[in-house]
Parts: sequence; C-alpha cells; structure tokens
Amino acid sequence: MIGVFDSGFGGLTVHRALIAALPGRDFMYLGDNRNAPYGIRPPIDVLNLTCAALERLFAENCTLAVVACNTASTVALRWIQQQWLPVRRREDGIARNAIGIVVPTVEAATGIGSERGTIAVFATRRTVESDCYPIEIRKRRPDITVVQQACPELAGSIERGAPREELSALVKRYVGELLNAAGRAPECVILGCTHYPLVADLFAAALPSGVRMIHQPEATAGALKVYLERHPEYDGSHDGRRKFLSTGFSREALPLIEKFWGGQVPFVQA
Ligand code: DGL
Repeated sequence: MIGVFDSGFGGLTVHRALIAALPGRDFMYLGDNRNAPYGIRPPIDVLNLTCAALERLFAENCTLAVVACNTASTVALRWIQQQWLPVRRREDGIARNAIGIVVPTVEAATGIGSERGTIAVFATRRTVESDCYPIEIRKRRPDITVVQQACPELAGSIERGAPREELSALVKRYVGELLNAAGRAPECVILGCTHYPLVADLFAAALPSGVRMIHQPEATAGALKVYLERHPEYDGSHDGRRKFLSTGFSREALPLIEKFWGGQVPFVQA
C-alpha cells in the first residue's frame, strides 16, 4: 500500500495523478484537516504533525509514503529522512520510506532542456522561509537564479471558494510583487503548493507569455513510477484498492473534495 499525505484535501490534486500513473497499485490518502493549514504553522508543529501522519500511514500497512504537501516536504522531510526514518526502520525491521514533492518538481524544472535564467517559486510562507526550493535548485543548477514569493492568502481563499475574480486579483498581486522584486520575467515557474493547480490558468494569465510552468502532480507521478522501478522492496499489493482518511472530515468538506478531486470519494474519519 502506498500512502499519500497532505495537510488537507489539496493533495488530492497530486493523489489523482499518482493513481492515473499507477492504476493497479493500492493507495491510501491521509489529509490532516484537523490541523490544516500547515503553511502558517511554526516549523516544529509541521515536523511533529508530519511524523504523526507518517506513523498513521505505517500503522495502516503503508511501507512507502508520498508527502504531497509542499509545506511538510520543505520544512520536515529532510530531517525525517535522515534522522527519524532510519530509527523507525530499525525498530520495525522492514523497509519504510517517505518521499516528497520537492525533488520531482526541481528535477522537472532543472532537467534536460531547461534554460539558464530565473526560476520563480510561488508557495506558502513556511515553504518560502524554509529556502528548500532555492537550495535544491542550486545543488543541481548553480547558474540559475531563484526568486520566491509567499502567497499567504491564496490556499485559504481557494479553500473557502472565493470567486474567480477575487482569486485572479490575488494571483495578479503576488505575480506583480515577484516581478517587481526580480526585476525581470522568469523563464520557469514552480507552483509550490498543492492548491495552486486549481489556479494555474490564473498564474499563466498573470505572468508574461512564454513562461514554462511546472506541474507538480505529473512531475511527482513520473518520479514515483521511476522510484518504484528502482525499489522493488516497495512492490507491495496490486489490487487497485483505495482508502481515503481525514483527521477532520465533515459533510461541509464535500464541495472542497469535489473541487480538488473532480468528484466525490468516500472519506472516513482517521
Ligand atoms: N498543502 C499545503 C502545501 O502544499 C497547502 C495548505 C496548507 O497550508 O496546509 O503547502
């Protein structure tokens, strides 16, 4: 069973792409809605909550977890991979791992055919403050300039169903702030938050034409496929089973699930 974790329902945008790429595999989704949003929480909270979510997925027989949440991936995942997982693996005596959304995104942005110049990252405040994207991009391409823009109101506005004109004005404001600070148009843009695929068209409209946009769900799905080919130890069950857990599910969430998934899925309380 492959676990997919996000702070809430936004990660369903990624989950859908993973299932489309690997339809025969068993997948379990866990949204930590009770504690969302993560993007405004102190880093220590994000770390503790991410560890708790992984524990939950492991307890549900997941051996591999995909951390779809950018905030959790950028703030917590490195420490988890280096310090926490080795201990968990030793204790359990079985293969366990967690992979994130940053490396697939950065590989897509800096891979073959990518141009010199500037990559712009739009994300939550906590993701921007972690500096994870600039660090990972510079490791691969020190010749590229990275500019970042925190969009603190955007994920919340998407969740509460703000009208398109309001979202468009918000996106225009953040893009304007980034272009002012950068002093030039970027060659490539990373939408570094699970919620932003829903407003990708608004970003495309607000940015100068010709900017390459990285799509995290597809990039992550491609990376997961390659990872599983290289790691047969995670070649678990192939019954196409699906389970959807949420720490804060309620009927009021149904429109939000519909928005991120494109239909209804049977969530149960975690
Ligand atoms: N899932 C979070 C992310 O991708 C956005 C929502 C939140 O702040 O929890 O960063």
